[in-house]
Amino acid sequence: MTIASAYLAAEGFEAELEEELRRAGVSIAQWHGRLALCEAAPVPAAWALDVWNDVREMPVASIKSAASALRGIQRNWSLYAVSHHRRAALIEDALPPVKARALHFPEPAPTGHLGAWTLLAPDRMLLSPTKSSPFVNGTVKFEEDREGPPSRAYLKLWEALTRLGRWPGPGETALDLGAAPGGWTWALAQLGCQVVAVDKAQMDPAVAALPNVTIRTESAFGLEPEKQEPVDWLFSDIICYPSRLLALVQRWRAAGKARNFVCTLKFQGETDHDTAAAFAAIPGAMVFHGAHNKHELMFCLLDAA
Ligand SMILES: C[S@@+](CC[C@H](N)C(=O)[O-])C[C@H]1O[C@@H](n2cnc3c(N)ncnc32)[C@H](O)[C@@H]1O
Repeated sequence: MTIASAYLAAEGFEAELEEELRRAGVSIAQWHGRLALCEAAPVPAAWALDVWNDVREMPVASIKSAASALRGIQRNWSLYAVSHHRRAALIEDALPPVKARALHFPEPAPTGHLGAWTLLAPDRMLLSPTKSSPFVNGTVKFEEDREGPPSRAYLKLWEALTRLGRWPGPGETALDLGAAPGGWTWALAQLGCQVVAVDKAQMDPAVAALPNVTIRTESAFGLEPEKQEPVDWLFSDIICYPSRLLALVQRWRAAGKARNFVCTLKFQGETDHDTAAAFAAIPGAMVFHGAHNKHELMFCLLDAA
């Protein structure tokens, strides 16, 4: 068996990743913890936190030889530790340290080259000098704000914007659909843009009182895009079936009233893989499961109109 790609699922979302890969014609040869080892060449996978896309196996004769083999390829390596913890930790200690410090949003993602490795057996490691995520095991951590936002939902928004490397700024407009209690609205207001927050539920009063926030207490589905002012950014964290969100996004796209989209596809019960695929098929779309997402995917589309 020759492993050519490996996909790291978030805890509890291995089945979603497996089904997505199956639909792409990729079968999993073996699970190694949350890492799906595959013989096929790498394919895009929304449910993977990280994709190891240049995978190779190497013998591990000793701790020293393993560390020098990795160092001989490049400087920065992150360990995915599943088993043989002590031996893996000793190899890791013999490598240059990789700082996985918390980001202070809005701060760009690290640009330094990072590879990944794991011990499959005491005498065998799997490694990939390149991987899809710049973060250790695909997981970004932020310096959290425990006072300003009324919910922790802002973390998945920060993660999405960090992945995009773009966010709204002063002079731009943002429509935040399904905004209550206001975590996203708070995060957007902090960036200096003008935010219109739409929800049938009540917003947190402190967020509602922010000078660059306007509240509309109504259904997001009742807004007719054709009759709205154009916005630079359309955000949605509405709790609804993904197919309903797809129709809403398509309507805003058809009206040409939103330039950039960042939306959460929330799954209730079964994962709707067909609708996720329909989102991913929109030209220019990015669909991913971030480390801060639960049973949901993020859909992002930049410069759509
Ligand atoms: C997960 S919460 C949003 C959390 C928010 N992003 C935050 O950061 O605090 C989902 C929201 O969708 C709202 N919602 C559900 N149906 C809606 C609709 N038709 N129009 C607007 N909001 C809706 C709910 O009232 C709820 O506040």
